[in-house]
Amino acid sequence: VPSLKEAFGESFEIGAAVGQQQLAGMEADLLKRQFGSVTPTNALKWTATEPQPQAYRFAAADAIVDLATANGMQVRGHTLVWHNQTPDWVFLDPAGRPMTPTAENKALLLQRMESHIAAVVGQYRGRIQTWDVVNEVIADDGTMRASRWYQLAGLDFIKRAFRAARTADPAAKLCVNDFNLSQPTRRDAMYRLVSTLKAEGVPIDCIGNQTHVNIASPTAAQVSAALEKFARLGVDQQVTELDVSVYTDNTSVYTTVQPALLARQAAQYQALFGVYLKHRDKISSVTFWGLADNDSWLHTYPIPRTDAPLLFDTGLAPKPAFWAVVGGR
Ligand code: XIL
Repeated sequence: VPSLKEAFGESFEIGAAVGQQQLAGMEADLLKRQFGSVTPTNALKWTATEPQPQAYRFAAADAIVDLATANGMQVRGHTLVWHNQTPDWVFLDPAGRPMTPTAENKALLLQRMESHIAAVVGQYRGRIQTWDVVNEVIADDGTMRASRWYQLAGLDFIKRAFRAARTADPAAKLCVNDFNLSQPTRRDAMYRLVSTLKAEGVPIDCIGNQTHVNIASPTAAQVSAALEKFARLGVDQQVTELDVSVYTDNTSVYTTVQPALLARQAAQYQALFGVYLKHRDKISSVTFWGLADNDSWLHTYPIPRTDAPLLFDTGLAPKPAFWAVVGGR
């Protein structure tokens, strides 16, 4: 079996999102053989690293970063500021009540955020090459997502997050990460946001494009259009959370995934990698959101059902999509 990193490493890094389950045994072997980069799936989220104020826990992330370092792999840090997987205490005022939008609460929230970023990015300075500084800040209608972060601090939470990350590790590449960026409304909102940030001198280096897609959409043309538009901003681009669901809606449930679906999936993956190779001057990494079909978030999201979104099957064997990607190079 050829390896993804040998096939694509000269064009861009190939990565996988991992947790503890992928750090030992056959999964670790597959990870080390196939991939040049890892992203902790959950171990660097706020709930994991600072569940209580100033009580940092790095053991889970250390295990991943140590494996990467020992094997010459890059690490993407995911993620510093998000509206999910963030402890409730972050948004409580000094009296223990949910923060309301006042100047005092904004200052306290941003102080907590900066202290968190200094600690987490500082812990991995020189060992994590890229950070998703803010995650999922765009709304589907093209406005900014009305998260607690945005409601309490407006765009300042984004600007100050990037500045704090730059200070904590000046060499790290700093990204804004979001999903469905092939949709024109979301794509154009991201373009405007990054233009604004760059015009104000906010230290942003990269757009992370989550790429949770399915066998029917988006089209190669839509994916290309986003890559070309973002290239005009002069930022790096990374494909950060790639998986191709065999479902095209939020309700169907298959008891077994038929070969015809795996063939359509192979065609979609081949089309995507065709676009990535064509635009390899714009892309520095492509990271799958998982290693193999035995462990994917899509088995529980958007509903509990068996999906098969990755290049390796539940027994870790290469699927038709693997051969299509490697062979289509
Ligand atoms: C998901 C993880 O894969 C799950 O294990 C966890 O329960 C929820 O988060 N967009 C993101 C990722 O940016 O952090 C999410 O990861 C998937 C969607």
